[in-house]
Amino acid sequence: MELLKAVNLSFSYQNKYQTVHAVKQVNCSFELGRTYAIVGKSGSGKTTFLSLLAGLELPTGGDVFFEGRSTREMDCDAYRRDHAAVIYQSYNLFPMLTAIENVIYPLKLKKVPKAEAMERARTQLTAVGIKEEEFARFPLQLSGGQQQRVAIARALAAGNQIILADEPTGNLDIGSGEQVVDILMRLAHEDGCAVIIVTHDLDIASQMDEVFTMRDGVLLHDE
Ligand SMILES: Nc1ncnc2c1ncn2[C@@H]1O[C@H](COP(=O)(O)OP(=O)(O)OP(=O)(O)O)[C@@H](O)[C@H]1O
Ligand SMILES: [Mg+2]
Repeated sequence: MELLKAVNLSFSYQNKYQTVHAVKQVNCSFELGRTYAIVGKSGSGKTTFLSLLAGLELPTGGDVFFEGRSTREMDCDAYRRDHAAVIYQSYNLFPMLTAIENVIYPLKLKKVPKAEAMERARTQLTAVGIKEEEFARFPLQLSGGQQQRVAIARALAAGNQIILADEPTGNLDIGSGEQVVDILMRLAHEDGCAVIIVTHDLDIASQMDEVFTMRDGVLLHDE
């Protein structure tokens, strides 16, 4: 059975004045142990597609299946807590929590014992290049790139099998970006995760096992 699969997946934003068809009839599947890039112009539907895979939005047509079950039929909060970690384009860090508290938060939800949660948070923060003295800072006391790395550490500390990352290197210098790409590749190829990233960086995209291009809501399979 495929891990994660989109079948005739469509999504339209609807408001009083207009309907935007952001994702149109997408079919594709994702496996454990592989890395995927989604590229495409601004406004082409990448974030919307990722939100559907994450169960943050429900399809207006078709389905997203995780292990054969549609996101329409599942508890999507539990799906994200236990299976799919999301790294948001705008980080979504909790402003009232420090860097390390942000990373510990999802582990608390998973009922990981406090000392272990602390240890895992420290390890992940260090792996993405956050220094000890930055652990206790609040998001607004960190640079954009540092916030982005804390968001990555938070997503990875949970140890989920699916990683959905929206522009995870968007605010990073080349060195930090490469470090993050290395971490994501190891997660797939050594730990067996499915890693799906949206990126504008074609150099990063070319390092992924499969590349999809989103064009005006339609997903094109490269090669
Ligand atoms: N809440 C919303 N209401 C109406 N339209 C929306 C909403 N959010 C996004 N859209 C529209 O849906 C389309 C796809 O947006 P989406 O955010 O998925 O693009 P994207 O590929 O992630 O772009 P970017 O590279 O700039 O992040 C765009 O035309 C956008 O204007
Ligand atoms: Mg986007």
